Amino acid sequence: MIYFFIQFYTLDEILRIEHLSKFFIKKGIFSAKTNTVKAVDDVSFSLKKGEVFVLAGESGSGKSTIAKLILKSIHADSGKILFENQEIKNDKKSLEKIRMNCQMIHQDPYDSINPRMNIADIVSEPLEIHKIGNKSDRRKRVIEVLQEVKLEPTEEILKKYPHMLSGGQRQRVVLARALALRPKIILADEPVSMLDVSIRAEMLELMQELQKKHEISFIYITHDLATARYFGQRIGILYLGKIVEMGLIDEVLLKPKHPYTQALMDAISEPDPENLNKEKKIRINEPLDIDVYLGCRFRARCPYAIEKCKTEPSLENIEKDHYVACYVNLD
Ligand SMILES: Nc1ncnc2c1ncn2[C@@H]1O[C@H](COP(=O)(O)OP(=O)(O)OP(=O)(O)O)[C@@H](O)[C@H]1O
Ligand SMILES: [Mg+2]
Repeated sequence: MIYFFIQFYTLDEILRIEHLSKFFIKKGIFSAKTNTVKAVDDVSFSLKKGEVFVLAGESGSGKSTIAKLILKSIHADSGKILFENQEIKNDKKSLEKIRMNCQMIHQDPYDSINPRMNIADIVSEPLEIHKIGNKSDRRKRVIEVLQEVKLEPTEEILKKYPHMLSGGQRQRVVLARALALRPKIILADEPVSMLDVSIRAEMLELMQELQKKHEISFIYITHDLATARYFGQRIGILYLGKIVEMGLIDEVLLKPKHPYTQALMDAISEPDPENLNKEKKIRINEPLDIDVYLGCRFRARCPYAIEKCKTEPSLENIEKDHYVACYVNLD
């Protein structure tokens, strides 16, 4: 089924992730015992040209690890990443290609900007690393992108240092820096979650405006399903390193088929007075007391778990553009 999905989108996709896995071995602090964390386990999805694909899931589900694997800042244990139908391997040419075309926006602006550099140097740095144009070309491009992210008066902003800006302005600098190379893909890892609620919407609107204007494909990583729905077109719901549900965003969020997606939606739904006395079926962040990697990873928390769930379910195509990894058919 997943194979069919991948073939179906080949024509208009820009990025394809095939069977990507990354496990970490964690050592105990007080003992020699090690523990394997399956941070990303056999994950496949594709990103179409000009679309926003959301990766959502709770903390530790593997969202940032997927972004790092795409940018090759860490290497996968297995699986493939294809950019414009060509596999990105670990050779210099492939790395240069993905890093030119794919930029990252981190949750914390200080993860990607040097506090000791001024804004002109911060935004111009990727152009210098990739040896784009001469000094005056680069300055022109820096001014252009600062205007695009509406950081004005530009001449003054250029000379400032990150600590002289507000949180919202700093995240605009990060966006400008990401745009400087005219990337085809932006990986935005919780780009608004550290911002004040009052300026989150502004930042999302700006990203959406620039995404449409330049037809940039986005992978938008978030915990927040409300902003996911605002910004995204398709979504993959991650649970402990596995995509458990994927499809068109309204299909998945308004008609969730996986109990985990339903629980995430319940957690953000408006309290209904008639339901106030009903106990939530699934408590998010409940501790797990079974080997989660045996069978369906969600079964310890799932109110619908059956014997069959001790065998891992695969992601099946249940309707056009809707994929679910669950044996129980929820409506
Ligand atoms: N370098 C590492 N060494 C060991 N374990 C790691 C490493 N990086 C990530 N992990 C583990 O892999 C799992 C996935 O981590 P990841 O950071 O991708 O999650 P996430 O979905 O981005 O979470 P968050 O929402 O908190 O950012 C977690 O259990 C994490 O502890
Ligand atoms: Mg993360």
